[in-house]
Amino acid sequence: MTLITLRQALDGARRGGYGIGAFNVTDVVQAEAVLDAARRTSSPVIVQTIAGASAFASDELYWDLLLRTISHYPDVPVVLHLDHGPDEATCLRAIDAGFSSVMIDGSLDPATHQPASFEANVEVTRRVVEYAHRRGVSVEGELGTIGGSEDGGTHKEIVLADPEQAQAFVEQTDVDALAVAIGTSHGAYKFSSPPDGSVLHMDLISAIKAKVPDTHLVMHGSSSLPADVRAEINAYGGSLPESWGVPEDEKARSTTLGVTKINQGMDSHMAFMAQLRRSLAQDGVTVDPAPGLRAGRAAMRDIVAERMAVFGQAGHAPQFADVPAFDAVRA
Ligand code: 13P
Repeated sequence: MTLITLRQALDGARRGGYGIGAFNVTDVVQAEAVLDAARRTSSPVIVQTIAGASAFASDELYWDLLLRTISHYPDVPVVLHLDHGPDEATCLRAIDAGFSSVMIDGSLDPATHQPASFEANVEVTRRVVEYAHRRGVSVEGELGTIGGSEDGGTHKEIVLADPEQAQAFVEQTDVDALAVAIGTSHGAYKFSSPPDGSVLHMDLISAIKAKVPDTHLVMHGSSSLPADVRAEINAYGGSLPESWGVPEDEKARSTTLGVTKINQGMDSHMAFMAQLRRSLAQDGVTVDPAPGLRAGRAAMRDIVAERMAVFGQAGHAPQFADVPAFDAVRA
């Protein structure tokens, strides 16, 4: 088992001066694509998934299969991270299932889906941290609200993070990593024109970093939404509107300003779906889903490998050879 914690992975990234991609997967086939990309580029990697976002009826079954899949990659340092845990119970379930890191997203009130108060966010985050840290598990919190929809459900408005609040939040919760809302949003529709400083507040990263130097900063909603991949999806029956994501050079720059974890879901899904759609459209007689899924897996592996070079994590797997495995550090 090559599982390590988020804290271990991101401490390594900070020492090496690079970022680590956290790639969303909704299937074991997608996890294999991410792990193959990490192996091919010799990268440490964060595999992340959202509760209830897979096609499996049971999260526990799916999560178990993710852990089994990771065990086939003893040469790859891997964090298994729960993305956007909506409440304490879901985070505790993931910790009990064997995740080495969880995100508690206390930025929204789960009942009203309105931005939660700072105090309520601190309270739920602190409780998850207490449970997680006793078991050696890392925790990511969220301050401000990142826009869009991470799972195709509730659409959040953007509320930018505040550096003073970030300091108080970290002091009161002891999170290992902090998702900071800097103007990005989740999903396949982000910006209506190429983003500039009026929508993408990169300056906020440095301001927050100065207040919380020991906490890892996370950039959510980092997909670039490549126009050629969108065109391919639309050529095979899709109807994605024109939209701009976060430019590759801004993601690379974010790692020089203090970001160590870069979240990507949509670019991977787009690459996967473009090839799945192509396969279905070009072969009208095969009813076995495997050939289409195989084409999707290869395309996802390739785009993830490209991003690993941009984020700077490529080539850094050997740096983790002496890091104690999660099995050894978990209580
Ligand atoms: P994208 O929707 O831009 O891929 O971001 C994913 C993400 O931030 C998941 O938490």
